[in-house]
Amino acid sequence: MYSRIAGTGSYLPEKIVTNFDLEKRMDTTDEWIRTRTGIERRHIAAEGQTTVDLAEAAARRAIEAAGVTPAEVDFIVFGTTTPDLVFPNCGTLLQARLGARGCPAFSVETACSGFIYALSIADKFVKSGEAKCALVVGAETLSRITNWKDRNTAVLFGDGAGAVILKPSAEPGLMSTHLHSDGAYKDLLYVDSGVSKGFKVDAATGKVDVGIKMAGSEVFKVAVTKLGSAVDEALAANGLERSAVNWLVPHQANIRIIGAMAKRLELPMERVIVTVQDHGNTSTASVPLALDVGVRDGRVKRGDLLLLEAFGGGFTWGSALVRF
Ligand code: ACO
Repeated sequence: MYSRIAGTGSYLPEKIVTNFDLEKRMDTTDEWIRTRTGIERRHIAAEGQTTVDLAEAAARRAIEAAGVTPAEVDFIVFGTTTPDLVFPNCGTLLQARLGARGCPAFSVETACSGFIYALSIADKFVKSGEAKCALVVGAETLSRITNWKDRNTAVLFGDGAGAVILKPSAEPGLMSTHLHSDGAYKDLLYVDSGVSKGFKVDAATGKVDVGIKMAGSEVFKVAVTKLGSAVDEALAANGLERSAVNWLVPHQANIRIIGAMAKRLELPMERVIVTVQDHGNTSTASVPLALDVGVRDGRVKRGDLLLLEAFGGGFTWGSALVRF
């Protein structure tokens, strides 16, 4: 028994903020952002629009694409670092909206690799026969924890959501997932506040400061090394050559990291789904968003071999090799 992606969906908030818009708000330039990151614009959630709002739209599209009904969903796993509430978790908030009552629904919080973690968990439940129609979501409103005065991080992030439905299948399907983390890297990328540790208040504005702290170039180096190993690991575990991969669907943090992974796979950039220019880094949402873009514009076809990978705060990272 395998699990197979039966449908994909995504949603982006309407408001678009370009690099030129950011030039007016902080000491940065379109040229700096584009050449260092590949980002040109990002979507930002409207006031009052939450992570679960974005997720619901993405989930309904995935459910429709899979040809199932919301009531058939019997397992929900939701990757996010920017939950609506402390509790209930975003999985159950989404469950109530979909009317898929009674099934397990929960969230995983592993920053940008959250969707890969969620996919790996759902795969195990579908493979074991415990779930027959699993909804896997990655959704974020990172703009809510962005310090708009910090040009080092504010230019990088965006909001959005992506989702897939996993169903049982006699054929692969998900061929493998590999998950990793190393908490010793915490200081390179973190948010220095939380419910238990407490929140700092910005003396000038009186607002809570939950800004992202990142040692960008160090994160970059570790990401390239760890993701490179993850790519090799996924292929070796399946006894496959690099040439077997039809599409790389990477985490969209930086075009230079994406390019390094394409090189590692000896894949031309035409075989990589790249959305970073339009979405920025949407953390947990980035891989399912990119997958849905590739599926809906017709590039990703049934039977293609996809390599999904992501890297994020923790550090956490992982891969999924998928026969679509
Ligand atoms: N506009 C203009 N100048 C800037 C900006 C900006 N927005 N941001 C930083 N700079 C300046 C810096 O102050 C520095 O100036 P200095 O040399 O005078 O000190 C200079 O640009 C160079 O900064 P670097 O950090 O060396 O730039 P780098 O080439 O490393 O690019 C970047 C920075 C884009 C952040 C890159 O390191 C990166 O993408 N890192 C990885 C990010 C990532 O993958 N994160 C993981 C996932 S995120 C998550 O999990 C939530």
